[in-house]
Amino acid sequence: MSNTQKAAAPARETIALDPRRVAQDFPILKQKIHNGKRLVYLDSGATSQKPFTVIDAMNEYYHVSNANVHRGLHVLAERATEIYECARTRMHFFINAYLPGEIVWTKNATEAMNLVAHGYARKFLKAGDEVIVSRMEHHANLVPWHLLAKDKGVVVKGIELNADGTLRLEELDAFLKGGKVKIVALTHVSNVLGTINPIAEIAKKVHDAGAIFVVDGCQAVPHLPVNVQTLGADFYAFSAHKMLGPTGLGVLWGRMSLLEKMDPFLGGGEMIEEVTISSSTYKEPPGRFEAGTPPIAETAGMTAAVEYLMKTGMANIRAHEKELVSYTLERLKSVKHLKVFGPANPEIRAGVFAFEFEDIHAHDVAQILDGEGVAVRAGHHCAQPLHEWLGSPSTARASAYLYTAKEDIDALVKALETVRKKFA
Ligand SMILES: Cc1ncc(COP(=O)(O)O)c(C=O)c1O
Repeated sequence: MSNTQKAAAPARETIALDPRRVAQDFPILKQKIHNGKRLVYLDSGATSQKPFTVIDAMNEYYHVSNANVHRGLHVLAERATEIYECARTRMHFFINAYLPGEIVWTKNATEAMNLVAHGYARKFLKAGDEVIVSRMEHHANLVPWHLLAKDKGVVVKGIELNADGTLRLEELDAFLKGGKVKIVALTHVSNVLGTINPIAEIAKKVHDAGAIFVVDGCQAVPHLPVNVQTLGADFYAFSAHKMLGPTGLGVLWGRMSLLEKMDPFLGGGEMIEEVTISSSTYKEPPGRFEAGTPPIAETAGMTAAVEYLMKTGMANIRAHEKELVSYTLERLKSVKHLKVFGPANPEIRAGVFAFEFEDIHAHDVAQILDGEGVAVRAGHHCAQPLHEWLGSPSTARASAYLYTAKEDIDALVKALETVRKKFA
């Protein structure tokens, strides 16, 4: 294996999660579907479910504090502003950013990646400069660079994968040696293979070559302890809705020294310092990047989500999911003719399981599983270049979270056997 991820530091004490107990906090998971079947939700990679506390925090915001932020002098405007800015401070602690002002609220991770491409890369890259991505990226970390390539003549190149679904880091070394790389943009965790990439190791290589490192943390922040200072990247993007929070809210973390140099992405109210008929000046970050009325109730939900995750403990969540990876990979071996993609080593794999039956379409698989009460996703999961490599236009994907129990995996395996029988 050429992926040289170092052995993890000695594990901190973790406390075993009881996922069935955790699931009690999620009202949606209590329901029965399809004539009384227990809902087995294995689509958390697409979006996570929300605990009572998150739903309540958003309700409470609308009941008690609803107003617009930053511009009012009345009591509700002050409350709304406090909720909005406190959420920023809470998020800065959660990922260990250097400053609260390095947390930029966006609509989602996709917008965060576009903000980097638009606000940073468009300003500082020129024709012939290279942006390095990889074969395992989500389209959110491909298309923004393609748009830039069209406009500016920037060249986008991709790192290929080893057979086990890890990055061929020697290819990154070769690209960096060429001297034209200005940005490396990689996912922390693959949303299809579950591969956990060695971000700190890559950050060092990228910086030694004088380039900027952008990380798509969408599938990492919900599942692993993420500390942006020790990871050492320059930008880190993720979405609230995959980490127990609401839809409509994302985060771009960026080093303040870089945010300060960037152009705004969207223009309008809230992000300005002064406006005349013919020109305008902009606020310092993060305000410069938050044009218009922001998602305020969503930040109330986000704070509750972060509190839930911190109370549970990110190391405990990771330990639970690591155990689930071993269990799931072992159990899936018992399903005849099922091919499971991604690394076999649970140390470098998150709880995402893409699979296929050679002779059954992924959509048929997902539909039959749904009939059995098991919710998975089927398609290319916004990762077409990866599916080209897998040799399959679509796969079915089961993805776990802190409320996923071994019984849920057993239900998946049983339902997959039903699929086999139906197509026998
Ligand atoms: C790895 C990865 N990156 C980016 C995204 C995009 O997230 P969003 O649609 O919330 O912007 C996803 C969503 O599935 C993802 O899994």
